[in-house]
Amino acid sequence: MIEALVFDAYGTLYDVHSVVRRCESFWPGRGTALSAAWRSKQLEYTWLRSLMGRYAPFSQVTLEALRFACEAMKLPLGGEQERALMDEYTRLATFPEVASFLQKRSGRRAILSNGSPDMLDPLVAHSGLRFDAVLSVDEVGVYKPSPQVYELAVQRLRIAKERIGFVSSNCWDAIGAKAFGFQVYWVNRGSAPLDRLGFAPDGIVSSLQDLP
Ligand code: LAC
Repeated sequence: MIEALVFDAYGTLYDVHSVVRRCESFWPGRGTALSAAWRSKQLEYTWLRSLMGRYAPFSQVTLEALRFACEAMKLPLGGEQERALMDEYTRLATFPEVASFLQKRSGRRAILSNGSPDMLDPLVAHSGLRFDAVLSVDEVGVYKPSPQVYELAVQRLRIAKERIGFVSSNCWDAIGAKAFGFQVYWVNRGSAPLDRLGFAPDGIVSSLQDLP
């Protein structure tokens, strides 16, 4: 019996690669590669900072990852591009099925995200999606997949972990949530192989619409 659905934000509800168009406008032909490098470095920095015990908000991590990715790809990044691309992150597109899926479902739902409130709150407001709670790792000062993050949802929603259904398209996040004790659904949008981390999600779907 699931009492609330808790969603990951980036990659699950919101498409981080909707920044490609803006990247393309600055550096034609390099947008897709830059977006991939940016996202991958952004996540890497969250894990490294967590291991170092040096939390910094996701907005800072995201900006620093962008600067690294541009330098690695030899793309000149000026103040204007930086502001524009960071701004894109507060206006990311939702995946096509998200709005109708949420409309059809009743019951409590929340977001639990790496995003710091300065990024996440404007994003959710811009998308028009409604949640009972929008929870950020910023409250605990460590990133996913730390169990402290998943525990935040238990504390704030006051629902036992076995009764929380966690939904993420990031396999490592789904596995972290499963290791913590949620019921977990991995939205495997890209038909990726399962990460070998000792746990498996309870269900694997290709889009939110296929959730039981
Ligand atoms: C998030 C990252 C993991 O929204 O996508 O927490």
